[in-house]
Amino acid sequence: MQAPAKINLTLDVLGRRADGYHQVVMVMQTVDLVDVVTVSVNRNHQTILLQGGSEEAPPDQTNLVYRTAALVQEQAQLPYGVEIELDKQIPVAAGLAGGSSDAAATMKALNHLFSLGWDDKKMESLLARLGSDIPFLVRGGTALATGRGEALHSLPAAPAFWVILVKPPFGASTPQVYKALKAKSLPEPLPWPEEMTPENIPEEGYSANMLKALRTGSYQAVLDAMGNDLEKVTLEWFPELKVLKEKLVCLGCDRAMMSGSGPTILGFTDEEAKARSIAEKIAKETETLNYRVMVARTLGREEADEWIVDCCR
Ligand code: C5P
Repeated sequence: MQAPAKINLTLDVLGRRADGYHQVVMVMQTVDLVDVVTVSVNRNHQTILLQGGSEEAPPDQTNLVYRTAALVQEQAQLPYGVEIELDKQIPVAAGLAGGSSDAAATMKALNHLFSLGWDDKKMESLLARLGSDIPFLVRGGTALATGRGEALHSLPAAPAFWVILVKPPFGASTPQVYKALKAKSLPEPLPWPEEMTPENIPEEGYSANMLKALRTGSYQAVLDAMGNDLEKVTLEWFPELKVLKEKLVCLGCDRAMMSGSGPTILGFTDEEAKARSIAEKIAKETETLNYRVMVARTLGREEADEWIVDCCR
């Protein structure tokens, strides 16, 4: 099962809630940079065996893949053990939701292998227990995420484009980035309808503009509407990220922005050849800094679904 990375087209933080989470409005998008999660049933035992992973995402009981398998095992009373191989390509602590996507892929694979018959909604609500941005990875494509990131509405697909992803050799801790934002405390109950939808999200903010841009289907309009409130913190902590953003634009990207809580910086273009040439140049220019440079394209929801069916056959 392929587990795609996500990027943020927008990230608006509305404030800090009484439960400590931040109320957010985000437009998220899957891209075709993937981890591969291979799941098989073992009828000889009932344990979860996880192999692979990476130094930063070791195959132990703290790994989201393991925790997802344990959750499914408990919820569905699985009669047999499972063996999982995790091939990591998506950088860890990068703002790309790699671990979250591995978790979503693990649940989808187990749902299929054990014919559990869980629909997307059921999987999303179980996965929300393990992390705010995991539910989005069940469906992928282009979606609006509200609440703490777990409440989803599918959106018209973003126009296809290419992304150059540059990950410096350090991570950014999501809780620390949110904390350092010092967002205003929100009253209880929250001053918005319980279910935020594309129709009732706050008018001001990047996401409302992005919804309008997506309706036009214009790549330029999508670029113009991009924005991420968490850049204030992460770019302040790591000024080299500001330089990286400028460099990507200098090299020909139509725009550059940070993904999630960072530190990955994204550069955008709608031409594959240009994306690859910019990636080559940025890799050369940052050779001594140990940055990881990757190229991906946007992955629509239907395309992601087809992939999943293929992998499960
Ligand atoms: O939900 P998840 O476990 O991914 O979140 C990790 C941490 O990031 C939370 O414990 C919280 O500190 C912070 N967070 C937040 N507001 C969000 C999402 C995450 O404050 N909407």
